[in-house]
Amino acid sequence: MSDISQEMVIILDFGGQYNQLIARRVREHNVYCEVLPYKTSIAEIKAKNPKAIIFTGGPNSVYEENAPKIDKEIFELNTPILGICYGAQLMCHVLGGKVTKAKDSSLSEYGKSILRVNDSQLFANTEKEFSAWMSHNDYITNLPNGFSVIATTEKCPYAAIENTKKNLYGVQFHPEVNHTKFGFEIIGNFLKKIALLKGDWTMKEYAQTSINSIKNQVGKGKVLLALSGGVDSSVACALLSKAVGEQLTCIFVDHGFMRKNEGDEVEKAFANWDINFIRVNAQERFLAKLKGVSEPEKKRKIIGEEFIRVFEEESKKIGTVDFLVQGTIYPDIIESGVGDASVIKSHHNVGGLPDYVDFKEIIEPLKLLFKDEVRELGKTLGLPDYLVNRQPFPGPGLAIRVIGEITKDRLDILREADFIFREEVAKAGLDTEINQYFAVLTNMRSVGVMGDSRTYDYTLALRAVTTTDFMTAEFAHIPYEIIEKISVRIVNEVKNINRIVYDVTSKPPATIEWE
Ligand code: XMP
Repeated sequence: MSDISQEMVIILDFGGQYNQLIARRVREHNVYCEVLPYKTSIAEIKAKNPKAIIFTGGPNSVYEENAPKIDKEIFELNTPILGICYGAQLMCHVLGGKVTKAKDSSLSEYGKSILRVNDSQLFANTEKEFSAWMSHNDYITNLPNGFSVIATTEKCPYAAIENTKKNLYGVQFHPEVNHTKFGFEIIGNFLKKIALLKGDWTMKEYAQTSINSIKNQVGKGKVLLALSGGVDSSVACALLSKAVGEQLTCIFVDHGFMRKNEGDEVEKAFANWDINFIRVNAQERFLAKLKGVSEPEKKRKIIGEEFIRVFEEESKKIGTVDFLVQGTIYPDIIESGVGDASVIKSHHNVGGLPDYVDFKEIIEPLKLLFKDEVRELGKTLGLPDYLVNRQPFPGPGLAIRVIGEITKDRLDILREADFIFREEVAKAGLDTEINQYFAVLTNMRSVGVMGDSRTYDYTLALRAVTTTDFMTAEFAHIPYEIIEKISVRIVNEVKNINRIVYDVTSKPPATIEWE
């Protein structure tokens, strides 16, 4: 075992919507943590030797029959515990305090409340009054023995509590969300001033633990990975390659809808790694299937199905596979929880593969990481910056950026124009501020004049957005001089484009991609 376990924090998951953020905040303090189900037995918890435990929030009320419970013994482990929202109520309930259901909405709190805090290590470096994010119906009305109140809000008499002797802390608010001022500091105080952790965990150590655990899981088994060239599958590939080397086969299906040079870049990036790398150049196949198709959803469906077919054919060639790697990251898990939201676009990614490929188990080595952590891990593992810092690129690639029917010629036009756009954005130093930027070849043609001749060519749209979560986005305010420069370059350097427009819609009502 590496020394990571010496500073392990366990986050017990009671089903709250912000649980992933708690893990993220803890890691931001360079403390390693794992999110475990609340049902994890005391024996398993003890075996991990946690230096602190956090109970998350959750949707239940402690008095409900099926509400998640916790074994009282956990409070006897001599490990500092921080309960958040439901976690704080549960701590109180189990230790003999009282939790009450708000009779009417005048007692429940949702949104920002002003928190007034007393002297406590938990608030060591905060102001005395600040706004905190609340989201609760029940609230604590009587403290268990040994506890005292350390914060209140107008509606909440016990907004934070402590038992300093036993190192037990509870907060009714959510320190993990950005809306809570000093939330980061509060979690840091719990970890460093109360649990006395050093906070010396690094991505290098995370990589090493993951590699060890993958080695254990895989043994001598065969592993298969669908490499798309995107950040997640590339980092997963790097990690697996360090863990199991040649037992790993990566299949990179080049559907022909990659950006300029991209397919070769991906191949080059993995050329010297100790893995079986198979690049399938399937451009003709995809183009044939898409002939005459211009409806976006149909395109996506065809590409998704063809991708699976190619992958399946290739994987059959390598025989029985024991493990399939998925590049799922933490936000994917959260987002896919949105059960019956209406389908805006059917996203194509490797999520559909397990039904079609025979394997024993799935490995999801990135499932606890956020995007920026995945990038950091990629760098730690030695992947080149251009691969790790890549902006998001949709599974169906340029096929959904060529509006209407896809032909090789139209793809080539788009590839050149998109390359110039991206090059100029980077030259202007805007590539770190703008989260996604690309060109779209519309199916509209218009009249222009070049030299002394009439032209009748395509209109190209430029799309650039700023966003944090890609669920909503603002169009990026690229300075006009730069747009002008890009426009001049594209119409001069790329044949068949005589007009450039800039997309000035946000999401919603538009989406980021055009199809
Ligand atoms: P939209 O267009 O829905 O895009 O606003 C949101 C984000 O998702 C990306 N996107 C996809 N990613 N497969 C993917 O893996 C897809 O089919 C797909 N379609 C859109 C898009 O580029 C943006 O970052």
